[in-house]
Amino acid sequence: MPELPASAHGASAAEVIRQCATAAGAILLERFRRPQEIGSKGRNNPVTETDLLAEKTIIGIITESFPDHAILAEETRSDTKSQGWMWVLDPLDGTRNFANGIPLFCTNIALVYDGVPQLGATYDPVHGELFLGIRGGGATLNDEPLHVSEKRLAQSVIGVDLGYSDERAAASLNLLATLRPVTQTFRVLGSAALSLAYVAAGRHELYLHNYLFPWDFAVGQLLIEEAGGVTSDRMGEALTLEANSILAGAIGAHRELLDLIRDVPLE
Ligand code: IPD
Ligand code: CA
Ligand code: CA
Repeated sequence: MPELPASAHGASAAEVIRQCATAAGAILLERFRRPQEIGSKGRNNPVTETDLLAEKTIIGIITESFPDHAILAEETRSDTKSQGWMWVLDPLDGTRNFANGIPLFCTNIALVYDGVPQLGATYDPVHGELFLGIRGGGATLNDEPLHVSEKRLAQSVIGVDLGYSDERAAASLNLLATLRPVTQTFRVLGSAALSLAYVAAGRHELYLHNYLFPWDFAVGQLLIEEAGGVTSDRMGEALTLEANSILAGAIGAHRELLDLIRDVPLE
């Protein structure tokens, strides 16, 4: 496990990630429910000027603090380096909620080494919740330790989101119909990153998504693993930055759900 690097100004990586999260979070909060430009990245996939401003702010802090690190950011920057240190970030996860005035969204920032998340922050500025994960150092919510739930599948609440592919969303919806009798219920929060953080906090037992990206799941992966849970892709393979599906949660419930869905096609 690599030691977390210090910034060019001598700050710890954890201090820098908190700085990024609070700066971006303040931007989201300030502009929430205010009139603004909303563009589109494809059918059903909005992007606001706030996504772009928050991303620019985070990238500014990172490049000043760690000028040698690669950055993979959802909207504007896609360094492809797979070795060494790389920041993987989504400035605003839950853009649809944000644009519709629904107070469920977050900023999501991970620091990855050789493709493995080492440090991560998911910050929900509306509720003042900062989820922080440090590889080997635990997961916390506002500095209080987090633990995944111990419930089994039959007692589980499963977080799901539908993503931007109609085919994969349809496959998820079909899956939910078959899972309904063997579990408690589902929650579609509209922010994959927040729902993953909720798994680490024991608010959902499991999280399932048929089509998402590393900036959506890298922090949640770390939070859940550090909170005592397990992560994989939807077929049960190890979760890498190249994965584009996820199944994560409490150990027993994860195994039970995986046994039911691993052979069901993604689309
Ligand atoms: C999206 C949200 C949504 C999930 C999508 C993501 P965005 O992120 O997390 O819940 O279903 O797959 O892309 O576009 O709001 O950053
Ligand atoms: Ca996202
Ligand atoms: Ca986003």
